[in-house]
Amino acid sequence: MTVLLRDILFSTDGSASRCVVIPERDEELGVRLNVASLGTDARIIAARTLNLQLEDALPGVGVHSFRVAEISRAIGIQLGFSTEEVVELFLGGLYHDLGKLTNIELYSDGNWTLTPEQRKVVIKHPTEGARILEGVESPEVLLLIERHHEKFDGSGYADSLCGREMPLIQQVIPVADAFSAMTDRRKYDIRRYSTRKAVQEICSGSGRAYNPRVVCAFVRVMCRESPVTQP
Ligand SMILES: [Fe+2]
Ligand SMILES: [Fe+2]
Repeated sequence: MTVLLRDILFSTDGSASRCVVIPERDEELGVRLNVASLGTDARIIAARTLNLQLEDALPGVGVHSFRVAEISRAIGIQLGFSTEEVVELFLGGLYHDLGKLTNIELYSDGNWTLTPEQRKVVIKHPTEGARILEGVESPEVLLLIERHHEKFDGSGYADSLCGREMPLIQQVIPVADAFSAMTDRRKYDIRRYSTRKAVQEICSGSGRAYNPRVVCAFVRVMCRESPVTQP
């Protein structure tokens, strides 16, 4: 299955509510827009549209991405980021795993024991996701996607950047992503970790896998009751 995510069409009056994503490029059907040039609402609608496409193609991944978006947004507010930055975090969360669409078979077979060859493919998905949206979303959002598997101590991927090499905002999604991955419903509705256990895991990785400031904000979000329940 091929989904060309760049082919986002809008009606001629710019109404994003009627945006569609088409499966194949057809220049005659409409005008490709740079989503980043649109207003906030339109960007979010476009991102949500692609998020639903992702869920269709890879069940569970779209839902996971929506949770990551919500948690990242809440952390961003807690950290005092600007409205624009909080929107970027939300968009980055929705888009962060889009790169998985480049290898649907690998992610849909339910096999999480990866061969070395499969792992080489998996570690490319942040870069692939950013590449898909190049020229469509803003450079800031592309970096959030590209760096969502980096770790505070530099042991992540794709570029093994450490905390001091990345702005704080780029260290938010890794925390939200890890928490969501630990608590997402999996096959047969079995959760790997309870919410409490997952929060403990995130805390134990503070200063190692995750930026301590982000972890503090995350814990404050979780303590208040949060937007992290399963839809
Ligand atoms: Fe990912
Ligand atoms: Fe993810």
